[in-house]
Amino acid sequence: MSASTTDFQLTSGYDFVKTFTDTAFRAINALPPETARAVALYGSRFLKRTRVVDAARINQNLWSLLFSNPIGLAAGFDKNATAIDSLAKIGFGFIEIGSITKRRRRGNRDSPRLFRLREDMALINRLGLPNDGLESVERRLRRYFNKTNKSSSVKLDKIRPVLGANIAPDPSSLHDTALCSEELVDCFTALQPIVDYITLNVSCPNVEYKLRDFYTVNRVAKMIDGMRKVEPGRRRVALLLKISPDLMPSEYLGFADFAKDGGCDGLIVGNTTHSREPTLRSSEKNQQGGLSGKPLAGTVDDILRDIYKHTEGKVTLIGCGGVFSARDAIQKILNGASLVQMYTGLAYLGPKLIDQMRFDFSTLLRQQKLESIGQAVGRAID
Ligand SMILES: Cc1cc2nc3c(=O)[nH]c(=O)nc-3n(C[C@H](O)[C@H](O)[C@H](O)COP(=O)(O)O)c2cc1C
Repeated sequence: MSASTTDFQLTSGYDFVKTFTDTAFRAINALPPETARAVALYGSRFLKRTRVVDAARINQNLWSLLFSNPIGLAAGFDKNATAIDSLAKIGFGFIEIGSITKRRRRGNRDSPRLFRLREDMALINRLGLPNDGLESVERRLRRYFNKTNKSSSVKLDKIRPVLGANIAPDPSSLHDTALCSEELVDCFTALQPIVDYITLNVSCPNVEYKLRDFYTVNRVAKMIDGMRKVEPGRRRVALLLKISPDLMPSEYLGFADFAKDGGCDGLIVGNTTHSREPTLRSSEKNQQGGLSGKPLAGTVDDILRDIYKHTEGKVTLIGCGGVFSARDAIQKILNGASLVQMYTGLAYLGPKLIDQMRFDFSTLLRQQKLESIGQAVGRAID
């Protein structure tokens, strides 16, 4: 039986845009975007823990991990693991740290390198993978791991969100495949004992190298092969690939086949895009870099649907791009995603949005008499 998102009507009367009224958040949103991001990360430590406990129908078990809800924080927001404690309070079901490269990177030198496209509810960034490097980020993740694994509590509202680390090839090593793979294996080896899953980012659009030529399925398979040979720590972590929404169908279906054949444990669709819809209205629309937010949603939904259909639902998918509400999230789930991630929606609407989405999400499922997210995954596909 198929269902479309128009079947899902909210009757709760909640309006997520109300979240925008928070004064502190509005002040942050008036700052230049890169400063706003830094202030928001720092300011998040003053947030109170959310009291909402997720309904059982929105819990999910994937890769032997318990996700209390399907809403995740996408990579790029907390690149250096400086705010996991605070972000964990907001109510995310999972948080992805990074992207992390073996060595510290300052990113691209131009300034500014992050732009708001308010009229389009979008961002353009050309940060170029700035991050503190493996050693520093690993130290912070280890501290968090040690702290959160001391507790023997099994109460769901006390359980920390699932924690992922996103690792990326260092653009300055890309010319040398062997070196590049070696650095990734180092990242994987150091991080796998202290996180729940690892994402290999093969889609950063903001580096000087022509990534499309580099990230063929064959090359990526070789990189993953090295990681798969690493002796597992306490358990084998799930390994995901984050692909670009700019891939041609033959390219993304190639990655889908790779995943279906057991090459990796799932796909994140996707990163920011180089493409610019003619409908964009903001004055910054021609800035170079990767576009994120609302304009990306349709493309990502199409790719999810194609992959789900092609693989007969056999590959676990995370939908990422233009999620601003529970309804956006459910659209991705109906199109085949099991989980969703968001970045730009959080930047525009603020942290209160996540509680709202958890509540709305559960309401949407209940209205449709769906007992679990699993029953909604792929329902829009005939
Ligand atoms: C400022 C910024 C920085 C980002 N940095 C990363 C990154 O380091 N690694 C990564 O895999 N994705 C990164 N992303 C992409 C996001 O994780 C996400 O895939 C993309 O923004 C689409 O989701 P959204 O529309 O909800 O923002 C970044 C996005 C933004 C806006």
